[in-house]
Amino acid sequence: MDAPDFSVADQRVVVTGASQGIGRSIAETLAAAGASVALCSRSMDRVGPVAEGINDADVPGEAFATECDVRDRDDVEAFFEAAADEFDGLDAAVNNAGGEFVAPFEDISEGGWEAVTDLNLGGTYRCCQVAGEYLRTDADGDGGTIVNMASVNGQHAAPNESHYGAAKAAIIRLTETLAAEWSDGGVRVNCIAPGLIQTPGVAETLGIDESDMPPREQVHRRIGHPEEIADLTAFLLSPAASFVTGETYTAKGVPKPGNSMNHDLGLQ
Ligand SMILES: NC(=O)c1ccc[n+]([C@@H]2O[C@H](COP(=O)([O-])OP(=O)(O)OC[C@H]3O[C@@H](n4cnc5c(N)ncnc54)[C@H](OP(=O)(O)O)[C@@H]3O)[C@@H](O)[C@H]2O)c1
Repeated sequence: MDAPDFSVADQRVVVTGASQGIGRSIAETLAAAGASVALCSRSMDRVGPVAEGINDADVPGEAFATECDVRDRDDVEAFFEAAADEFDGLDAAVNNAGGEFVAPFEDISEGGWEAVTDLNLGGTYRCCQVAGEYLRTDADGDGGTIVNMASVNGQHAAPNESHYGAAKAAIIRLTETLAAEWSDGGVRVNCIAPGLIQTPGVAETLGIDESDMPPREQVHRRIGHPEEIADLTAFLLSPAASFVTGETYTAKGVPKPGNSMNHDLGLQ
């Protein structure tokens, strides 16, 4: 009789967009569970201290950070190469970097549309493609794991987020397609679709106050904690998820009734 293996200890994991919010929580959670994590964001001043915090903490994992803009192919290639050099290979990539602004569809300019789709979908495309160079092995091999960050907005309509929703929906389909194409390389590719999660990005974009966070024990009618997405990520990276690929896992609790933000975010 075997206990389930939820361990990510000893995995070497790239996490993009790790200077704050969900990405930071994923990096810290994986390191606390014993993983080696390579972090990036557009600013070393912002992501460096997160890695230092992990390395200074009493956790079994370790962290490495470098600057990388996922909109830039050369940056992405250099980041993955540096991470693989640092840890002598890679086992997983969490393609988390993303963001948006809110606007009615008719007000979204060519540049605005391009900015949001290139960051979210383009960044995921680049990171998946480069990750594949490190993770794909052969049909019998343990080819590693990719987790892409979509959104409930990729599953349901959300007014004022047409560009973001379109990009996140495409990430879901990209994930399914890659899971099929790369299964013979031993790679599992999955996706997470978070509901509304309390992060600095949400606070800035949507003006939601960070001070009022109900505890995780309260299942319903609340915003999510970044750690709740991090824990799901850890599961998807673990051997316990060995038969899970091409899937999108939604984590959104039960939204607060009467909150107009829920509707905007497709949570009702
Ligand atoms: N929070 C939510 O409610 C929610 C819901 C559904 C989906 N999501 C998705 O979850 C992911 C994380 O969201 P979050 O709320 O944690 O966001 P956040 O607080 O805005 O943090 C975004 C992270 O991405 C980094 N980043 C932004 N642009 C980048 C780029 N071009 N290259 C590299 N890194 C970049 C930022 O770092 P720098 O600024 O230092 O570059 C930061 O670390 C995103 O993909 C988002 O779409 C979030």
